[in-house]
Amino acid sequence: MSDALSMARWDDGRFARVRREVLAGWPTGAEIDIDEAAAYHRAMPESRRVPARLAWAQARGVTLVQPRGGVAGIEEQIALLRRLEAAGADLLPTTVDSYTRECRYDDAQRGLERSGPEGRSLLNGFPAVNHGLRACRRVTESVGVPLFARTASPDCRLTLEMMYAGGYTSCTAGPVVFSMGYAKDYPLRRAIEAWQYTYRMLGAYADRGVMLNVEHYLPISTMVPHAISLACAVLDSLIAAAQGVRDITIGFGQQCHLAQDAAALRAYPKVCRRYLEAAGVRDVQLSTVMSQWMGGFPPDEGQAFAVICMGAVAAYLGGATDMITKSPHEAAGVPTPEANAAGVTASKMVLRMLRDQRVTPLPDIAVEEALIEAEAGAILDRALELGDGDAALAAVRGIEAGVIDVPFSPHRTNANQALPARDWRGAVRLLRRGNVPAPADVRAYQEAELARRLEGAVSRKPWELLLEDVNAISAGCLLQGAERA
Ligand code: 5AD
Repeated sequence: MSDALSMARWDDGRFARVRREVLAGWPTGAEIDIDEAAAYHRAMPESRRVPARLAWAQARGVTLVQPRGGVAGIEEQIALLRRLEAAGADLLPTTVDSYTRECRYDDAQRGLERSGPEGRSLLNGFPAVNHGLRACRRVTESVGVPLFARTASPDCRLTLEMMYAGGYTSCTAGPVVFSMGYAKDYPLRRAIEAWQYTYRMLGAYADRGVMLNVEHYLPISTMVPHAISLACAVLDSLIAAAQGVRDITIGFGQQCHLAQDAAALRAYPKVCRRYLEAAGVRDVQLSTVMSQWMGGFPPDEGQAFAVICMGAVAAYLGGATDMITKSPHEAAGVPTPEANAAGVTASKMVLRMLRDQRVTPLPDIAVEEALIEAEAGAILDRALELGDGDAALAAVRGIEAGVIDVPFSPHRTNANQALPARDWRGAVRLLRRGNVPAPADVRAYQEAELARRLEGAVSRKPWELLLEDVNAISAGCLLQGAERA
């Protein structure tokens, strides 16, 4: 029986009751003992812990680099991580396969068994639950840098029980960002409850003296205005903090408009901090992440490197704590270890070259930062009003009302009334706002910037414009068409 939805911290009884069900989801669940796992974490060197590494980077003002990557076999996963570590990755991933993301452990088992003999991975990631606790610890102990569990679905409860107990110290997370980003039919309130469980589990580690991180970012942020994905990440962060999570990274996907991306990196933690404090939470470690371009990549490897390097410049200008890299193979699919490593070395090269330059902040960044803050504030205030101040209800009701309207979201409850477009300088704005609120001056500025793009250009329907914008980068530019002087 499900309790009424709210952001309130789960009591011990509810957590223990659900936990028995979660751990029974696959035989390896029986290997997990949270007291033993907390002791294992306390004995782990700081150099292998994500929260310590993020705090270190923030204190020095440097950007860490993290690739993605996951294969079916344990030995193969270890070899991949060692290759990426040798390339200079500061944080390492373990991307979980799609079956595991959907809790289809039987299918993952079949894929795993067929992967070995054929000498290649028949899964698109690492099936952590099937491998079990010892295997996860072998993987995390095989390298010297901290590891992230990278999943992306509404229910990651057993996977994250396994991976945190296995020595992972962070995960990609969030009921709102993953529902709106990747799910179609999974009801948002169920996703919120599933994630509350995981956050409550992290709270249980915190109670045992173990600080663990979560990363909140909307994975389809390609043409989603930064203010909208920020609103999603803030609601997830409020929901997480209420269960006891105290180390949170928030971010978005690079949109390739330099000032806007850098501005978002600066605005995100400010806005998130404001709402956490309004909720009475003052002791969260907050950091930022930017994933390199999540849209279609150019097939040409040189052009792909250009997108990757531009991401690194934006991360530098915005002071990102962490940057998730892409590879020159992105247009083709999951990269080879070599191509994956090249995404890391290219990104690190740019960051090293920029590190000491102390570039004067661009005035354009300040303008965009103020816009994002004001727009995200309007969205969050309205959603929280609809939710009577409760972040969980604000998410459900805010999305149903189209106040949070995520362009390209596959989710059934998304309003799909808001339509984005790039303006005359390539900044992402809302061409049609639907019910997404914004202060009058922000709205007027955005409309004027969009009008400048459309002025004197061949007339296009909004969806034609959108199609152009969505395809532009894979076609080798940011803005296509006649409006480019
Ligand atoms: N290995 C490497 N990269 C992966 N991605 C997803 N699965 C893997 C994997 N197993 C990356 C791709 C994709 C992004 C969401 O994650 O770059 O575009």
